[in-house]
Amino acid sequence: MGFISDSLNRIQPSATIAISNKAMTLKAEGRDVIGLAAGEPDFDTPQNIKDAAIKAIQAGKTKYTAVDGIPELKKAIVDKFKRENGLDYKPSQVTVGTGGKQVLFNALMATVNPGDEVIVPAPYWVSYPDIVMLAGGTPVFVEGKLENGFKLQAADLEKAISPKTKWLILNSPSNPSGAAYSRAELKALTDVLVKHPHVWVLSDDMYEHLVYDDFQFTTPAQVEPALYERTLTMNGVSKSYCMTGWRIGYGAGPEPLIKAMAKLQSQSTSNPSSIAQWAAVEALNGPQGFIGENNTVFKQRRDLVVAMLNQAKGISCPTPEGAFYVYPSCHGCIGKTAPSGNVIRNDEDFVTELLAAEGVAAVHGAAFGMSPFFRISYATATNVLEDACNRIQRFCGNLR
Ligand SMILES: Cc1ncc(COP(=O)(O)O)c(C=O)c1O
Repeated sequence: MGFISDSLNRIQPSATIAISNKAMTLKAEGRDVIGLAAGEPDFDTPQNIKDAAIKAIQAGKTKYTAVDGIPELKKAIVDKFKRENGLDYKPSQVTVGTGGKQVLFNALMATVNPGDEVIVPAPYWVSYPDIVMLAGGTPVFVEGKLENGFKLQAADLEKAISPKTKWLILNSPSNPSGAAYSRAELKALTDVLVKHPHVWVLSDDMYEHLVYDDFQFTTPAQVEPALYERTLTMNGVSKSYCMTGWRIGYGAGPEPLIKAMAKLQSQSTSNPSSIAQWAAVEALNGPQGFIGENNTVFKQRRDLVVAMLNQAKGISCPTPEGAFYVYPSCHGCIGKTAPSGNVIRNDEDFVTELLAAEGVAAVHGAAFGMSPFFRISYATATNVLEDACNRIQRFCGNLR
């Protein structure tokens, strides 16, 4: 009998973290590497947020707190949901975890039994299937086709629902595709869900604020109030507030679910960092203007990257509505030979050869459940992105 548990053996380490680490190692060895694999803004945390954390330390707010969040942060989250999403929650319906990842983890671990199915639209964020499998559940993948902007279609959702379906995970704007659902597109999906009262909705709104071209963000519980009683609306400060290292995520939903999640957290990590919680209070209550300023830069970068990738031979790159990722197809490069002499059989070969030949680290689409694509994060300085895209163009042009 192996020492490592069966449940752990069911899952894989995060592919995005593995590739980011590989790029960092190569860089440390002196290689000229551009890492486009990490999913975090290159902008610094705003000063008022840092100051709030320093103040919290100086005021001695350095002790254990309530397991799933201090009242001040829960109040700030309640206010945020009301102000930005038109959603009414009580503080007892709110939970705070160590990053959005823990909130998702808690929700799935607290509810999924062996044999339960969780619908995961592909391409998906790498962690969803593994958390479902760790809990003993079965991820049911439904592909959002390139021609539909990578978005789940109502008819495909209907087909995927079975008596065993426990959750649908929706992530808009999406990591990895950047696709975001309009109100009408979400309504088409919520109309299906209304007919299936046993299916809960886990809405991962992590990239809510990162939308471009006047796109209007909406979330399922807002679009269809009938789903409020079975929706966990999850969000966090990591991406919009440039706070990936602070590790604060949150969610709101029905009280019994929130209590179950707190119970699990009480026996695992307890409260998220007290200092980071005070920083998050300032993030949510403080000035929001920098988000728009950052978005102006992100939009310029998105447009640059999309235009340059579409000039690369064999690459086709749609323009996403949000987040800071593009998810181009490398279909036209499959079957060709790289400078190393190796044939590119799939998207994993494509990113491996690209890293070897040009020192550009991207993540293969297979890691997100849809091939042959790759993901590029454009949360990197504009001149670096330009250099990276020139290298990709050269790489594609040199394939034989
Ligand atoms: C779609 C999505 N959800 C959740 C998370 C987790 O965020 P956090 O860093 O707050 O745990 C990420 C981070 O990459 C993400 O891309």
